[in-house]
Amino acid sequence: MKVLVVGQGGREHTLVWKLARCPGVEKVFCAPGNAGTAVDGENVNIASDDLGRLMSFAKHNDIDLTVVGPEVPLVAGIVDEFKSHGLKIFGPTRAAARLEGSKAFSKEIMKKAGVPTAASKSFTRLEEAHAYLDALEDVAVVVKADGLAAGKGVHVCRNCTEGKAAATKMLQDDLFGTAGQTIVIEEFLDGHEASILAIVDGDTIIPLETSQDHKRAFDGDQGPNTGGMGAYSPAPLVTDEIMDEIIRRILVPTIHTMRVEGHPFSGVLYAGLMLTAQGPKVIEYNVRFGDPEAQAVLIRLKTDLAQILSLAASGRLAELEGLEWDERPAVCVVMASDGYPGSYAKGKVISGVDEADRLTETKVFHAGTTGKDMQVLTDGGRVLGVTAMGDSIAAAKQSAYRAVDQISWDGAWNRSDISDKA
Ligand code: AMP
Ligand code: GLY
Repeated sequence: MKVLVVGQGGREHTLVWKLARCPGVEKVFCAPGNAGTAVDGENVNIASDDLGRLMSFAKHNDIDLTVVGPEVPLVAGIVDEFKSHGLKIFGPTRAAARLEGSKAFSKEIMKKAGVPTAASKSFTRLEEAHAYLDALEDVAVVVKADGLAAGKGVHVCRNCTEGKAAATKMLQDDLFGTAGQTIVIEEFLDGHEASILAIVDGDTIIPLETSQDHKRAFDGDQGPNTGGMGAYSPAPLVTDEIMDEIIRRILVPTIHTMRVEGHPFSGVLYAGLMLTAQGPKVIEYNVRFGDPEAQAVLIRLKTDLAQILSLAASGRLAELEGLEWDERPAVCVVMASDGYPGSYAKGKVISGVDEADRLTETKVFHAGTTGKDMQVLTDGGRVLGVTAMGDSIAAAKQSAYRAVDQISWDGAWNRSDISDKA
């Protein structure tokens, strides 16, 4: 089987690495890929949102399965395009990808499905948003841009004054362009966060092992929000009982409602959850693997990933007899460029990756890297996801940081407390 992975981050390197190790897989391409996917697979110089060229590549190279990493091509309809040309692709259709592409749509589905989530209301007019906020007691609220905003569209506000300022920035000052022309104002949820990823084929749902991301830039969850500075799996906070509740009250009704509404969901359903005193509630849905959650979760997967994704893409997930996991926990530490999540320099020479990779049970997943003249250079904000397994979370953490210590470039930094929350 020949596989094409679309994207260029740490999640995509993880997918390429894992898929390349599946017995039925003869070759893995990655478009556009990074310096890591060039080693574990073969890079193709096509941007992840160039749907036309991706499709033409898949056709002319007899690709048997395409796996899409990022949300942008999914929301743009890459799955509909590929399918209409008879190409097999893993991911949700454009209509189903609205679960991530439109927070208002996502809330609507949750409401219809009776899924526990923060109480919320959508607005397109600033006066109405302000009036709504004025009428609330002076409580914390969260203001969100409806559309995709590269992880920056959420403002957690301590009170209604801050909420009104955020609403003004989005609805009046066009902070997020069209993505912020509709906003969702919602109740602030208190608790611990967990990420639940499930493989879905429209009908059958197979949850993956649990994980927890670290969204804030600095130790102790301080600083600005990022794409994720590290992750570990499993998340011990999600007990078997809580997982049962998540499946019963969140995953099943959501997938059922998507089908009833005429947009059956196939792909990865990623539920970002808050574990509150009243039980798990959905913060948001994504329609793809999490990054860096994928690194910590998939390194533990023993079942053939190509087979799982291929069955899901064919609506035949029910044929799979459950998943097999390495019981050992995994920790992924993201190494980033100085300045991230703001602006940062590119092109710094990275050293020590091979040494780190040689450590046992350790894998360095590339994210923002590029290869040039036999060197690996930084090419993004999140540069590497240094991932290790161990007999305990503490042991996995120690191994991951031992590997981090091998790696350096001018301006490299990372959090030093990934997995401490466990
Ligand atoms: P998102 O981009 O939707 O993942 O949101 C970014 C972060 O904002 C989440 O990981 C949470 O930490 C926080 N957040 C979003 N919605 C809420 C909420 N309703 N209550 C509390 N925190 C929230
Ligand atoms: N790690 C958060 C995300 O993938 O959206």
